Amino acid sequence: MPTSAPSASAPAAPLDLVIFGGVGDLSVRKLLPALYMAHLHRNLPDATRIHVLGRQRWARDSFLGFIQDKTLGFIEAAHFDAAAWAGFLDRLCYACVDATQAPDFEALAAALQPGSDRVYYLATAPSLFVGICAHLHGAGLVDARARVVLEKPLGHDLASARQINQDVGRYFAEQQIFRIDHYLGKETVQNLMVLRFGNSIFEPLWRSPHIRSVQITVAESVGVGSRAGFYDGTGALRDMVQNHLLQLLCIVAMEPPVSLDPDAVRDEKLKVLRSLRSMTVADVARDTVRGQYSAGASGGETAQGYLQEENVPEGSATETFVALKAHINNWRWANVPFFLRTGKRMAARQSEIVIEFADLPFTIFHDSPHRSVNRLMIRLQPEEHIQLQMMAKEPGSGMKLRPVKLDLDLQTAFVQRRAEAYERLLIDVIKGRLTHFMRRDELEAAWAWVEPILEGWKQLGERPKAYTAGSWGPAASSALMAREGSAWVEEA
Ligand code: BG6
Repeated sequence: MPTSAPSASAPAAPLDLVIFGGVGDLSVRKLLPALYMAHLHRNLPDATRIHVLGRQRWARDSFLGFIQDKTLGFIEAAHFDAAAWAGFLDRLCYACVDATQAPDFEALAAALQPGSDRVYYLATAPSLFVGICAHLHGAGLVDARARVVLEKPLGHDLASARQINQDVGRYFAEQQIFRIDHYLGKETVQNLMVLRFGNSIFEPLWRSPHIRSVQITVAESVGVGSRAGFYDGTGALRDMVQNHLLQLLCIVAMEPPVSLDPDAVRDEKLKVLRSLRSMTVADVARDTVRGQYSAGASGGETAQGYLQEENVPEGSATETFVALKAHINNWRWANVPFFLRTGKRMAARQSEIVIEFADLPFTIFHDSPHRSVNRLMIRLQPEEHIQLQMMAKEPGSGMKLRPVKLDLDLQTAFVQRRAEAYERLLIDVIKGRLTHFMRRDELEAAWAWVEPILEGWKQLGERPKAYTAGSWGPAASSALMAREGSAWVEEA
């Protein structure tokens, strides 16, 4: 088994980037457009070949026609350049590879450039991961410089995640494994680290008792679409909370790392995950809400309910919404609730983190009803925005207070192009930078916290609560907040 890390300072070698599941949805919608953008901005090494693997027997022309058809629609018109596109297509090679057949890997080996750096992107079902790694190894395609990228879902529970990690670990050293969570590639999420650790004013206040609560919302307006085959066996807790929301929570809650070194950052995130208070069945009943959307309206159009969506089994009890209250058992966060919420078919596509600062200990402004007044809102999507809510005096006689916002609009503050998450992460993989990828122990700690919730739901045996498509989720989610004297911040 190789043990050494890829060397960042190795002389530039040709690069072969191999995408398993290359003609699948993720590849044509996200990976290939991201690689085109990297090509357009000259961020790919000169001798880069992108090997798209699929099971169809295609001549080159048919393959290029397919890519043209499926991928162009995901490249913004403003970034389309015919000459660059033609250059990008020149980099693409198609190979018919059945991931379960060893001889196909011999043929793949013959197609790779001699002495190249190799990146294997596994955009397939996780059940194929181990077989692919074994066959790559068998064909002599795994050396100390090779890297493997694992797409989520990485397991279905703790045991299956451990199994995948252990099996892949037989062929690739931990430093060669890039477990992708595309939220860690978002500009705004990376900016959160800068907000916290590149400014001195927040850190003294960034703790109990100065913070009253933290809210993390990732709301989507889309429904399950054509993905029910995958989604119905997964649900919102596994699809979003176990990875994206917990990663956001880690970045909000972690101690300052000693550097940006991958392990320095990942050690701190791991400590947060390990400090999450595990839930009992009684906690699950009280502090979590499962929801499922019913028919309603979204974006001005009628939207069908989850149960009516294509390929959803009759009477499915899969949740499309989760809200929950989490606690972090450490000195910094004692008694500060973290409210997490995510769902499909919600009122808006809106992802944000809201830090609610402590109530005033005492007020001298008796005309003002406000107690908890200061709040930092970090909007991640659809636009990047940071607002600090302060109180100000309303002009006029008397001392009436009103909340106003200090507004930092990062869209106008910076004119530079913002790369999509996948583009940034793919470049990180190529450069061997692991900071924004999950380490094995992190992934397993996230599963270890999520599992009792899944178990609790099973024991409670309740159906998810219905919420109307286009709303902010079931009423029980607002009730969860109200019990704590809080409310979800839902400003457009
Ligand atoms: C994916 C989930 O990881 O993230 C999808 O599987 C979800 O269900 C998507 O729609 C959301 O990502 P984004 O970048 O659109 O917020």
